[in-house]
Amino acid sequence: MSVTVTGLSSTALMELENKYGAHNYHPLPVVLDKGEGVYVWDVEGKRYFDFLSAYSAVNQGHCHPKIINTLVEQAQKLTLTSRAFYNSTLGEYEKFVTGYFGFDKVLPMNTGAEAVETAIKICRKWAYEKKGLPTDSAQIIVCEQNFHGRTTTIVSFSSDSGASKNFGPFPSGFIRIPYNDLEELAKALEKPNVAGFLVEPIQGEAGVFVPDEGYLAKAKELCKKKNVLFIADEVQTGIARTGKLLACDHENVKPDMLILGKAISGGVLPVSAVLCNDDIMNVITPGTHGSTFGGNPLANKVAMAALEVVSDEQLAENAECLGKIFRAEIQKLVDESDLLVLVRGKGLLNAIVVNDTEDSSTAWDICMQLKENGLLAKPTHGNIIRFAPPLVMNEEQLHECIAIIRKTVLAFKK
Ligand SMILES: Cc1ncc(COP(=O)(O)O)c(C=O)c1O
Repeated sequence: MSVTVTGLSSTALMELENKYGAHNYHPLPVVLDKGEGVYVWDVEGKRYFDFLSAYSAVNQGHCHPKIINTLVEQAQKLTLTSRAFYNSTLGEYEKFVTGYFGFDKVLPMNTGAEAVETAIKICRKWAYEKKGLPTDSAQIIVCEQNFHGRTTTIVSFSSDSGASKNFGPFPSGFIRIPYNDLEELAKALEKPNVAGFLVEPIQGEAGVFVPDEGYLAKAKELCKKKNVLFIADEVQTGIARTGKLLACDHENVKPDMLILGKAISGGVLPVSAVLCNDDIMNVITPGTHGSTFGGNPLANKVAMAALEVVSDEQLAENAECLGKIFRAEIQKLVDESDLLVLVRGKGLLNAIVVNDTEDSSTAWDICMQLKENGLLAKPTHGNIIRFAPPLVMNEEQLHECIAIIRKTVLAFKK
């Protein structure tokens, strides 16, 4: 076994995780030790292009110096006060983030799932106190193949049986309809006591499903007519990933409630947020919601630095431009190779569909070969491989990555 920077080999480190950690993930067998920009290095010192970006959390690239310097500086001053007291960074952050996204107010949380839970709670409270629905009657419309996180409430309305099986009993109050289907949405909106429509503008975890053009705008319009809140979960699609600051911006749609997470901190800390205007957020009063870590000084400073990087480095524009090149080049490969069915996506959130059954190991085997060739990606839902590199990638690096994918696909043998 080779000796590594940690003193332990990859094999030994993987064994530790397998023995002492819950088996709730099935990682690719690579042990990462260092990251910088678009690259990560394993413990043996091999360099890879990161084509997952921690599920779109590291949009600003690994260990961005501006974000890390802010982290270190604030960590030496004040990290956590809880919300029992005011702190010197929260107001500044709240002003900054609401101005950045164009809403009156923000409710800061930590993980994406917590922010989704928060949005569900705000939506229900708004429905009873503002819309006037009878107590405990509120319904929220969600979509098939959704992914909004892992809490018991959220998995209760998942269509993935692996996510929900044996985690019941579940709360009620959710109506599930097909994604990208306006007729079904219109029908569901006719049901009694509908309070909200919770939707991913592009379904990321499901395999990067981009809805038809006009879907989001029309869905928002239908919701507005029925006084139903349009709630966009942009935890994965937001913060420049799809070539605009928000995926909803592609259709000039302003959600009633916006849910953000992941890249709002550049993947440095768990930071999430729910944003909406006063008429909705004012239903939240002292004692109705909270989080020990939500709005902590470290998170506030880091999130401001991370969002500044997004604008200063024009990451949305870069994602838009590189995404077009990526899909055009991979489309050529799809046309040449029987192994691939299609490429789809927006900006730098893309996926290829592999020409095999959903339960086959082909996508996994391709990812293993990509790893050997210096690029890390992971299948999502069987035969789909998601490609989501950091948005700080340049065109030359992108072409290098396309060459790796090309070489891997053309040489692949089952
Ligand atoms: C759209 C969406 N919502 C919510 C979440 C959950 O975020 P977290 O894992 O931070 O709880 C994810 C995670 O992938 C996501 O993609």
